[in-house]
Amino acid sequence: MKVITARKYGTPDVFRLENWEIPSPNKDEIRIKNHNSAVNSGDWRIRKPDPKVVRLYFGILKPRKPVLGISFAGVVDAIGENVTKFQIGDKVFGSTGMQMGAYAEYICIKESSVMTTLPKEISFSQGAALSFGGLTALDFIQKCKIQKKQSIIIYGASSSVGTAAIQLAKYFGAVVTAVCSPGNFPLVQSLGADSVMDYKGFHADSHKKTYDIVFECVGKSSISSNLNHLTKGGVLVLVGASFKDMLQAAWISISKGINIKFGPISETLENLNTLAELTKNGDFTVVIDKSFPLEALSAAHQYVEAGHKKGNVVIDVIN
Ligand SMILES: NC(=O)c1ccc[n+]([C@@H]2O[C@H](COP(=O)([O-])OP(=O)(O)OC[C@H]3O[C@@H](n4cnc5c(N)ncnc54)[C@H](OP(=O)(O)O)[C@@H]3O)[C@@H](O)[C@H]2O)c1
Repeated sequence: MKVITARKYGTPDVFRLENWEIPSPNKDEIRIKNHNSAVNSGDWRIRKPDPKVVRLYFGILKPRKPVLGISFAGVVDAIGENVTKFQIGDKVFGSTGMQMGAYAEYICIKESSVMTTLPKEISFSQGAALSFGGLTALDFIQKCKIQKKQSIIIYGASSSVGTAAIQLAKYFGAVVTAVCSPGNFPLVQSLGADSVMDYKGFHADSHKKTYDIVFECVGKSSISSNLNHLTKGGVLVLVGASFKDMLQAAWISISKGINIKFGPISETLENLNTLAELTKNGDFTVVIDKSFPLEALSAAHQYVEAGHKKGNVVIDVIN
């Protein structure tokens, strides 16, 4: 099978195309013929690595697992003897999580993973693009416990997490202001944003309006400028918080009693099923910016790392 490996950390050109034996599933695993993967912001951070502390988990000198990628969508083509949830021929999608291995033609994965049946209304590309930003946005939106008509401002609204957060916040009844580049105003409005603002407007001192929830998706604005927009008693979400941001947020939270949500999300099967259901019913649209063939993974990583994708970037594993 075709796999793309990163045998060392580095720039996008570390990737190499290799031919591997097709793996066999263990007793509690299924094997998926992978149709689509995605390049997420987390993927280039592991490849680089950024932050350097990534090495502690993924390998000190080089990636312990050379096949990166966590998002997949494909067809079950073999099952282990203890598997009960899936059958050969089922269409599935999900996240391999820390196991990675999604930049490959075949994936063996435990049936208990964050993986579910792909509804017939959702394409493989959409399935592969759904899990990363969708699961992240949904986890943080749930932590906000949105009440109907609450106001939320979403910073970095054209990102993978942002495009999902706009739709989920609307779904739970919030009034959404999306902050992004003017060129992305039509996109965020098409996803349901009630009003739009460019980054300059967000940072302008003259801007006095406050929001019940400030949802910072991309880790590009300071905590103090986010707090300028927060009502007393509101919730600040820092999806893309750096380690330094987290320390600062923890201190502000304790010393000033401000409700700040940050840290790694829990990817859950329940939330993946929620996203599948919302998408199937037309209540959620997964935004796909571009697709690249598996062989062009380096170019896809370069594009995503540049930081200006709209929504998600998909990899066509089967051309
Ligand atoms: N906490 C967690 O567990 C968790 C999970 C997943 C992701 N994350 C983090 O969440 C963040 C977002 O991930 P993502 O995949 O959604 O990102 P992404 O899609 O790669 O973000 C791309 C977007 O960022 C915007 N952007 C770039 N530079 C900007 C700037 N200076 N100011 C404002 N916006 C800017 C771009 O908009 P323009 O082109 O208009 O500039 C673009 O739409 C990342 O930092 C990621 O590490 C955290």
